[in-house]
Amino acid sequence: MNAINLINVNKNFGKLRVLKCINLNIESGEIVSIIGPSGSGKSTLLRTIMKLEEIDEGIIKIKEEAIANVEEGIKVKIPKAVLSSSLKNLGMVFQNFNLFPHKTVMENIMEAPVMVKKMSKEESIGKAEELLDMVGLLDKKNSYPSELSGGQKQRVAIARALAMKPDILLFDKPTSALDPELVREVLQVIRKLAKESGKTMVIVTHEIAFAMDISSRVIFMDNGEIVEDSTPEKIKNTTNERVKAFLQNIT
Ligand SMILES: Nc1ncnc2c1ncn2[C@@H]1O[C@H](COP(=O)(O)OP(=O)(O)OP(=O)(O)O)[C@@H](O)[C@H]1O
Ligand SMILES: [Mg+2]
Repeated sequence: MNAINLINVNKNFGKLRVLKCINLNIESGEIVSIIGPSGSGKSTLLRTIMKLEEIDEGIIKIKEEAIANVEEGIKVKIPKAVLSSSLKNLGMVFQNFNLFPHKTVMENIMEAPVMVKKMSKEESIGKAEELLDMVGLLDKKNSYPSELSGGQKQRVAIARALAMKPDILLFDKPTSALDPELVREVLQVIRKLAKESGKTMVIVTHEIAFAMDISSRVIFMDNGEIVEDSTPEKIKNTTNERVKAFLQNIT
């Protein structure tokens, strides 16, 4: 089944064309990395999939259900119930963690399951502890975000995204705000999820070696376009000059 489906998606910020006629199909269970220069539209692409940005043209579907549909500039209304049930399939991890500073680690993880999913407190505590154990932070359950390292904060953010049990996880440069020695612990958690969870994962990253290693598919974006969409092997040996230049600069 298709997890994510974009058909002719265009997105502008004012006069700036940020996504240009994007067509993309991601199958359930695929691990896809998105690479490309700064400003190429990677975050915007993820944000439109999360419905954090409106599009100007095209269709976005999550598990075959449209969450955005604009035909020739005319927005087709998506019923609220469809939208909210579709968005429940998605979890996103941001570059800057986005944790609630005044809540403990446990409270950060339990917030959405209790408030949105109406999970009981007991059940959510059990689930949160299980997730914290998975990311290796059970001993920090009563800490506040300000008491954690960047790598720990990001692992809490991953646990928080998982608490809603999404089938599809989007990561936007999850390690780029981290000191080099903290990058590895976060990549390890993402690698484990990629290997074991069976979830569909879309990872925007500048960690090229990591991307090539864990993904079955790598997408190179430049200037609002998908320039190459291929296997890690093929991307490494690309003949496309833009992709080549990017890979040479970054590694
Ligand atoms: N809210 C906004 N308003 C206006 N322009 C924006 C907005 N968000 C992004 N842009 C512009 O859209 C373009 C694409 O930005 P985007 O954040 O998607 O790039 P990116 O590929 O994620 O870059 P990076 O690798 O630096 O994170 C950039 O030119 C950016 O300046
Ligand atoms: Mg970005």
